[in-house]
Amino acid sequence: MDISKILTGAQVEPQSRQPMYLQIAGIIGEKIRGLILTSGTKLPPERELAALFRVSRTTAINAYRYLEQQELVVTRVGSGTYVAELPNGTAEEGSAVPWIQLMTPFPRLPLSTMLREILDIDFSGDTISLAAGMPDPALYPVELLQHIMGGSDNSINPIDLGHIPTEGYGPLRRLVARLLADRDIESTGENVMITAGSQQGLYLLSKALLEPGDYVVVESPTFIGAHQVFSASGARILGLPITGRSNFNMLEDYLVRYRPKLLYLIPTYHNPTGRVMSASERRELLRLAARHRLVVVEDDPYSSLYYGEKPPASLKALDTYGGVVYLSTYSKVLFPGLRTGYVVANPALINRMALEKQFIDLHSNNLSQWLLCRFLACGALDEHLALVRSEYKKRRDALAKALHRYCGTDLSFEIPGGGFFIWCRINRLFSSSRLLHQATSEGVSFVPGEAFYVHPPEGEKELRLCFATHAEKPLQEGTRRLARALDGIKRTGKQQDTVVHQPVKPII
Ligand SMILES: Cc1ncc(COP(=O)(O)O)c(C=O)c1O
Repeated sequence: MDISKILTGAQVEPQSRQPMYLQIAGIIGEKIRGLILTSGTKLPPERELAALFRVSRTTAINAYRYLEQQELVVTRVGSGTYVAELPNGTAEEGSAVPWIQLMTPFPRLPLSTMLREILDIDFSGDTISLAAGMPDPALYPVELLQHIMGGSDNSINPIDLGHIPTEGYGPLRRLVARLLADRDIESTGENVMITAGSQQGLYLLSKALLEPGDYVVVESPTFIGAHQVFSASGARILGLPITGRSNFNMLEDYLVRYRPKLLYLIPTYHNPTGRVMSASERRELLRLAARHRLVVVEDDPYSSLYYGEKPPASLKALDTYGGVVYLSTYSKVLFPGLRTGYVVANPALINRMALEKQFIDLHSNNLSQWLLCRFLACGALDEHLALVRSEYKKRRDALAKALHRYCGTDLSFEIPGGGFFIWCRINRLFSSSRLLHQATSEGVSFVPGEAFYVHPPEGEKELRLCFATHAEKPLQEGTRRLARALDGIKRTGKQQDTVVHQPVKPII
């Protein structure tokens, strides 16, 4: 749709007492409320909007800011300005079908669009995104997959293309169980369920276990997708601060005071901090959890991506009371579009999750499961892991070196032993959201820390950089741009953010 056509002919009145930016916002707002411009429609870039109305770029920017305050548009950094989903009752009477009124209320979580926006950033331009936690497409095992798909000894049995059990493709479930045995995780096909990625596993768990008002304990900071899915189920979230050693006193206090339904953890190469819970902490945690018969959800996408020593045994391997639910995924070690992960849990819970899964997709995609099964069966994963580990190690070191070199004392961080992320702290007075604004204009992006916290603006001085998606050169260039952004803010002299008390909505 050519939006400029919808706006052509609309004029602002320079002599009017109403500022021109409000006039422009009024014109666009009217089209949005009248559903002529519908949710998700991309609006003209600021420069084009300014040309359309013959006003300055600042006026155009102010018009979009005003519309954003009215929650009529959203800005996605690096991508542009879009018509927002209208809150109930915003649309005007008389539209053909009142879609907005017909829809069920959607929980307005502060970060509800965060994941979508990270994925939406336009990677085609010159921007170097260190934001999304994605593997590098150049490292996907495409040739091997093509070979598997084309090989005559790999022909698919037509039976496998029909409906299969909701819990997953039998040969894959059994193979996953066998591979887990190498990591001391005891399982049979019976207690393994294949899911459309770990995100679906988290969703099914929350459907099976959580009711509005239940308490859930998560690390703070934690993975945004988990926080969102638990909050959307109506659960109340208790944050367990990650500061060096695990805070078991606080956890015990939560257990006694709130009797939470579950504790969600990423003990190995944590997203976003990269932290690894030590073997002794794992044992201490499990003793405490067993005493309180607490369900511990161990989310483990990164443990095979280690760049030195292997990490300690998983919580699931150490579990003696049967309370650990284990989730993993092939999104990080292979590629996210495979949408294949799994849950290992008590068969009763697997059964309940399967009932929930039937409502959403009957079963996960057969072809992905078949392909993954062939890939794992021929032992290709080990070879692939060796390759990506050595590549990601180089990238982690390149980013760490560049950060030391270009960002000096402005940022501090620890080098993680594995995973995808370097978690940085800003040693200046400004926040990471402020830095992100400046950084995107320099052509680099990241995720500001508060996105991962239960109570923003906690984390406003922190940021997550992903080193997996880009090779060493772009990582160095991205860091140079980050350094320019830091210098740019320091030069303005405004070290303190002007707005600190509003809940900050990170823009990515
Ligand atoms: C800790 C954690 N859990 C789960 C996921 C979701 O993975 P999937 O692509 O398998 O849904 C991610 C992805 O970023 C993650 O970092």
